[in-house]
Amino acid sequence: MKFFKAYVFLLMIIAASAEAQTAPDAKMNQFVSSLMQKMTLDEKLGQLNLPGAGDITTGQASSSGIAQKIEEGKVGGLFNIKSVEKIRDVQKIAVEKSRLKIPLIFGMDVIHGYQTVFPIPLGLSCSWDMQLIERSARIAAIEASADGICWTFSPMVDISRDARWGRASEGSGEDPYLGSLIAKAMVKGYQGDDLSKNNTILACVKHFALYGAVEAGREYNTTDMSRLRMYNEYFPPYKAAVDAGAGSVMTSFNEVDGIPSSANKWLMTDVLRKQWGFKGMVVTDYTAINELIDHGLGDLKTVSALALKAGVDMDMVGEGFLTTLKQSLKEGKITQQQIDMACRRILEAKYKLGLFEDPYRYCNEQRSKTEIFTAAHRKEARETAAQSFVLLKNENRVLPLKKNGTIALIGPLANAAENMPGTWSVAADFKKAIPLLSGLKNAVGTGAKVLYAKGSNLTADSALEERSTMFGKSLGRDNRSAEVLLKEALAAASQSDVIVAALGEASEMSGESSSRTDIEIPDVQKELLQALLKTGKPVVLVLFTGRPLALKWENDHVPAILNVWFGGSEAGDAIADVLFGGVNPSGKLTMTFPQNVGQVPLFYNHKNTGRPLAEGQWFQKFRSNYLDVSNDPLYPFGYGLSYTSFSYSDIKLSGNAVKKGGTITASVTVTNAGTAEGKETVQLYIRDLVGSITRPVKELKGFQKISLKAGESKVVTFNITENDLKFYNSDLKFAAEPGDFKLFIGTNSRDVKEADFKLL
Ligand code: BGC
Repeated sequence: MKFFKAYVFLLMIIAASAEAQTAPDAKMNQFVSSLMQKMTLDEKLGQLNLPGAGDITTGQASSSGIAQKIEEGKVGGLFNIKSVEKIRDVQKIAVEKSRLKIPLIFGMDVIHGYQTVFPIPLGLSCSWDMQLIERSARIAAIEASADGICWTFSPMVDISRDARWGRASEGSGEDPYLGSLIAKAMVKGYQGDDLSKNNTILACVKHFALYGAVEAGREYNTTDMSRLRMYNEYFPPYKAAVDAGAGSVMTSFNEVDGIPSSANKWLMTDVLRKQWGFKGMVVTDYTAINELIDHGLGDLKTVSALALKAGVDMDMVGEGFLTTLKQSLKEGKITQQQIDMACRRILEAKYKLGLFEDPYRYCNEQRSKTEIFTAAHRKEARETAAQSFVLLKNENRVLPLKKNGTIALIGPLANAAENMPGTWSVAADFKKAIPLLSGLKNAVGTGAKVLYAKGSNLTADSALEERSTMFGKSLGRDNRSAEVLLKEALAAASQSDVIVAALGEASEMSGESSSRTDIEIPDVQKELLQALLKTGKPVVLVLFTGRPLALKWENDHVPAILNVWFGGSEAGDAIADVLFGGVNPSGKLTMTFPQNVGQVPLFYNHKNTGRPLAEGQWFQKFRSNYLDVSNDPLYPFGYGLSYTSFSYSDIKLSGNAVKKGGTITASVTVTNAGTAEGKETVQLYIRDLVGSITRPVKELKGFQKISLKAGESKVVTFNITENDLKFYNSDLKFAAEPGDFKLFIGTNSRDVKEADFKLL
């Protein structure tokens, strides 16, 4: 009897919680169902259509090309249209002139900030600070939603191991564990705890899937990999974003297992919806359905039907859905149910955003005036940028600089405001970004003299410079000869106590459609650097880049190198904060820096092979290596220096074995052995020594970012459970296998202490 009562009570609890969970869903379902009953087939297809905003200008919305279509109910949403006025104008057409008054959804590529721009995602990931990253997404959401936007095409979580691929700049690097945590933090930052609030926006995890593994790093190229690699190494961040509740997913341009993502039913339905339980909407990437024709899958009608059947809901720009699905339905190639399902998911997204309740929820003029590019947001962006910089070298403590004497600031990136926000900063006002020259001057005040010279163009090749500085991000090519530019720079250098060389890539040298086969600092800039070093003055290389560069020569010759990526709207001030020691650098690389491009793809969590090198050797005949260069990276994953130094004790384990369901703890004492306060990211890696499939030589399984005063020590403890040891086996089952493991803790993926344990 007692048991029966407890059982009934349990059932009541389950029923109550199910009801609590489903009550809002039930309301939404009812609303959407009754709306869909009123919709014609054409109106349903209209919801699946996401055209670009085209040429809409304020006050002109009703006469723009898109207005007619909106009135006819042929548009589900628009993207990359900016400002409350324009968005309000367009929304008005939808909710006043279209038959069913269904509001539009407004998307934008809000990738690393809106008008207050944060560092490019690859840089942001180097902070290893989830709160900071979440906060950056939160601020982006506040600003975007204050300007009419309710949907962002972010986070981009494609794992990338190939420095040639320009879009590595938009992701979080090469590691699935770190990438997953960042994916989750970004989704939380954008969506908050309630999507219907007027300052939260719908996230869109992209590009599903495997886009970062395009062959040879060439943009939009083919991807081909084993399912084991997908599940263990490339899928985790997408799944983490879905688990965190991301409301939408974007397909990738590439193929997966021979079928481009936008037509890949296994990917979009079996993996995404059935295995991962994704309930939101799937949007294609830009014209990705039309591109299925060039992929070789058939004509527009055929490929549009394939995409719908695969599980795609919304068609970005191409209008294949709008123009062909009706005919396909007539011919029995698709079903009404498939169209209804896609339409339902889009309406649900709008419902969750609160657009049916108030289509102008995100169109608040007052908010747009007071919540965008605020002093408080800019302050956070500046602090965040400083956390993303990675100190790669600092010989003889050239850094931090003193705020006195004469500083020569030289290089094509030194006074380049437009290039500071970095790729994909659609909403930024480039002119408002702080270039390094202003940052240095702001920092030194009257304490030091700052001399500036451009020193060289971006590259000797003017056509390459043009391709690398598109979208209003010109570096103002100087038509004087290289010799004249150099002479001017050397004149400034000769009067200085220290030279700061601002060199590297222009911001559009990475990002979409910006793959490179040469990943060194371009020609004339390198010559400039060589000439500056010859002066014998101390040289600090402030490196701007959107990807790992091959810096072997620089590492051999330049005493100090600070990698600043593209730090966002506040970059110049943030760089100065670090150069003068106001902020002690603590960023750690999330992508391996190779010695040369021939080593790429190069990543820390590789397999051992059957012929690894013997310890301490860099070349052995008939072993896995190159004749001309060691397998070592120039800077390993997780690497980054500080103005202080940290020492690590040996690892203490709580035992030598962990039982299934049990925990083992590993701890180290980390000491700040230098003279400045600093932050250190303590990293935990694990190696599964024997498995039913081959396992990586190291995998990141935990990290803690700690702050230590000079001389201070802290014990850092990690708990390891069976869960941390799980992987997808040959049957794609996620399970841990008993046996021997190695555990490493250290300051980067190379310099570690190690210990052994068993899983029983
Ligand atoms: C990119 C996407 C982006 C979309 C919309 C595409 O070219 O691949 O990442 O979200 O354009 O701007």
